Amino acid sequence: MRTIDDLDVAGRRVLVRADLNVPLRDGKITDDGRIRASLPTIHALRAKGAKVIVCAHLGRPKGEVKHEFSLAPVAVRLGELLGTDVAFATDVVGSSARAAASGLADGDVALLENLRFEPGETSKDDAERGAFADRLAELAELYVGDGFGAVHRRHASVYDVPRRLPHAAGDLIAAEVDVLKRLTEDVERPYAVVLGGSKVSDKLGVIDNLLGKADRILIGGGMVFTFLKAQGHEVGRSLLEEDQLDTCREYLRRASEAGVEFVLPVDIVAAEAFAADAEHAVVPADAIPADRLGLDIGPESGKLFASRLAGARTVFWNGPMGVFEMEPYAHGTRAVAQGLLDSGAFTVVGGGDSAAAVRQLGFDETAFSHISTGGGASLEYLEGKALPGLLALED
Ligand code: 3PG
Repeated sequence: MRTIDDLDVAGRRVLVRADLNVPLRDGKITDDGRIRASLPTIHALRAKGAKVIVCAHLGRPKGEVKHEFSLAPVAVRLGELLGTDVAFATDVVGSSARAAASGLADGDVALLENLRFEPGETSKDDAERGAFADRLAELAELYVGDGFGAVHRRHASVYDVPRRLPHAAGDLIAAEVDVLKRLTEDVERPYAVVLGGSKVSDKLGVIDNLLGKADRILIGGGMVFTFLKAQGHEVGRSLLEEDQLDTCREYLRRASEAGVEFVLPVDIVAAEAFAADAEHAVVPADAIPADRLGLDIGPESGKLFASRLAGARTVFWNGPMGVFEMEPYAHGTRAVAQGLLDSGAFTVVGGGDSAAAVRQLGFDETAFSHISTGGGASLEYLEGKALPGLLALED
């Protein structure tokens, strides 16, 4: 993959595909991690005298202009972090975008409106996507792919534009890929993987692949209840994916055959309702009362998980252990984050929710070896899938 040092960017318009998909509440950014992660590439391009046109998506507006998905607040935050004005185009490839792009001086930065306001961005139809990619490519002379969180999407700005312009990978993509290679090609053992989050069905591919690669797999979060049920335990009203029970049984069987240690929680925080103020108690993982739902792994499980991380040389973690946004159910996620830090291993926190959890729970993010900006993208990489946004940059 070429890097930005391989492109002659001085005085030229460079389209940077970033991932600025940040969480917003009432129009305010609640976690600007992805904007900050995009800064090194933009700084480097500005320092080389490029005219920088940043493009990105926010949420899933499905090809329609929807005010609540506007990137306008992101333009303001990006400008604050860069310490310069960021010209904001109120459309993606229309007159505002063309004016913003042509009005840039060397070292200036513009941000286009949400790519996903245009149906061509996410279209499954190659011709429709291609027509949009043509218009986007016309805004610039060079392309830099830096939106790691979106490289698993075969979208116009990720996959088609780099096929139309001389291109390179930005610093963020280069850094993320280096780390993922260390987890796949050259892993230092013991290699432990912690998976959480709500749905087993989102993690099937990665568990499948890791059963041949990881030494230990620790499972928490909402997905754990399908595993507990697969072992024959009562899970009450906890999240359950009935259609995945057989698959979970199969994974447990394969893990024991392959000598992979599969660690499930031994206790659960079970509540009467999905609410911070609901009546809740710690119960054994094999005896969740029928009228309760599990919202976190329990304290003994936190200790167990930390002990299984203690001897590891490499740890990858994706997905919270419980509903960490509500304090009574944050303990498990906190225990795992601390377990990673105490392990002394090469620690990688994969993506969206877990990265936000680490920051929200007050951990020093620089204490982890790497916090990935891409949840879905890093999981698909670990599944062994070819990622369209990386393929396009390798060409
Ligand atoms: C993410 O949030 O994981 C990335 O920004 C990709 O977003 P998407 O899942 O809506 O494609």
